[in-house]
Amino acid sequence: MTTPNTPAAIGRILILGGTGFVGRTLCEKLAEADPATRLVVPTRRLKHGAAMRVLPTIDLQQADVHDDATLQRLVAGCSAVVNLVAILHGSAAAFEHVHVALPRRLAAACLNAGVRRVVQVSALGIATSNAPPGQTAPSDYLRSKTQGEAVLRDSGLALTLLRPSVIFGAEDRFTNLFAELQQVAPVIPLAGSNARFQPVWVDDVAAAIVRCLQDPATVGVTYECTGPDEMTLSQIVRYAGRWAGCERPQIALPGWAATLQARTMEWLPGGPLMSRDNLRSMQVPNVASGLLPGLPALGIEPTAMAAVAPGYLQARFQRPLLDRWRARAHRG
Ligand SMILES: NC(=O)c1ccc[n+]([C@@H]2O[C@H](COP(=O)([O-])OP(=O)(O)OC[C@H]3O[C@@H](n4cnc5c(N)ncnc54)[C@H](OP(=O)(O)O)[C@@H]3O)[C@@H](O)[C@H]2O)c1
Repeated sequence: MTTPNTPAAIGRILILGGTGFVGRTLCEKLAEADPATRLVVPTRRLKHGAAMRVLPTIDLQQADVHDDATLQRLVAGCSAVVNLVAILHGSAAAFEHVHVALPRRLAAACLNAGVRRVVQVSALGIATSNAPPGQTAPSDYLRSKTQGEAVLRDSGLALTLLRPSVIFGAEDRFTNLFAELQQVAPVIPLAGSNARFQPVWVDDVAAAIVRCLQDPATVGVTYECTGPDEMTLSQIVRYAGRWAGCERPQIALPGWAATLQARTMEWLPGGPLMSRDNLRSMQVPNVASGLLPGLPALGIEPTAMAAVAPGYLQARFQRPLLDRWRARAHRG
């Protein structure tokens, strides 16, 4: 990973979705890159951003970003906005509300306040053809993400789009989830086992956003953020299990069984691990198209999953196991 080294002052930045997985790392990097930059981070619940309060430049605020007046107040006086708000599960209406209506209202608020610079984090797998935006993607998630991109692109703002593949890191709900499942289940029934991904490290995605904010040459460009290795879901699950010390055999579910599993999971309390919409998203390869610039164009050498994930998965899953054995040995 190459850290951007242009210490350009970037002022006061509004980070929508800044309390999330990517947002937390982004705020750390922005605070490091320019300690004078004020980071305005709205959240639905202040406790979601509790861990970020230690950052000296953060202005964490409880706010409803779907309220026009609130959004207008948040945007005012900012030099740039980063939008990281997204959901993975929900109805078509919920996807529309979060991925399309919010960018539309954000664009209006920015234009009203004279704020031109916006970095939108989108997703890979949405440019499947030259058909009208959103018409060809197989899932509500991808369709709404496509439409959100189009809304911002048509707004006339100074926009940079980033499309990451699946993102890994110590606090992800991806490799950690697969490791957790393999800790408790003797066999993993896996839907979409042949789906293709190019996992990208959260630090690399955050570094890319910082670079975009610092470099005006990135305006108008769409970047694909991918790691160096293409892997199937089955391989990712296997590695996550191996690095956590609990690799289990997998059963690749046929289409009908995958749909049944997803339909059942949609009813899980606390939100689904997988939905039928997620399954439909996995029909599109989540890998770089090669038609757009990637992280190297931003001066970032993508980090392999194998270079980072074993460290955090071993620390979380294997060390406690070793500690239990050690404690047992001392008692004996
Ligand atoms: N993680 C990945 O593997 C991955 C892969 C491809 C693309 N991306 C994209 O990267 C961006 C960041 O993803 P992430 O993994 O950091 O997401 P995340 O951890 O789920 O965080 C999402 C953030 O959005 C806010 N949020 C969620 N639902 C909201 C709603 N209905 N209204 C207002 N705010 C809401 C949450 O803030 P509060 O709870 O504090 O209000 C949270 O800070 C997203 O655009 C995502 O689509 C992520």
